[in-house]
Amino acid sequence: MTEVIFVSANGEKTTVEANAGDTVMQTALAANISDIIAECGGAMMCATCHVYVDDDWLERVGKADEDELTMLDFASSEVKPTSRLSCQIKVDDENSGMIIHLPDSQL
Ligand code: FES
Repeated sequence: MTEVIFVSANGEKTTVEANAGDTVMQTALAANISDIIAECGGAMMCATCHVYVDDDWLERVGKADEDELTMLDFASSEVKPTSRLSCQIKVDDENSGMIIHLPDSQL
């Protein structure tokens, strides 16, 4: 089983089953995680799918590339070294169980 653990800004944890190959954003929407909006549907044009990858998972998940960083400039919450656009993170067996922190706001 592939899963993603979402942690809201107030510390509430939700473990969600994911389909390998889906993005973290798709996984969140399918599970009604309301802290991810994903206005552009994954086209990397909105930054309303901004998340923070847990420190312990960042190396495995990887950091944002240049294009993603450019889009993250439009994120409404603070951008940190662990910031990613969740539509650009694919879930697979390698990163199953990854912990994703949600920002306090997307708009
Ligand atoms: S869903 Fe719009 S940038 Fe990720």
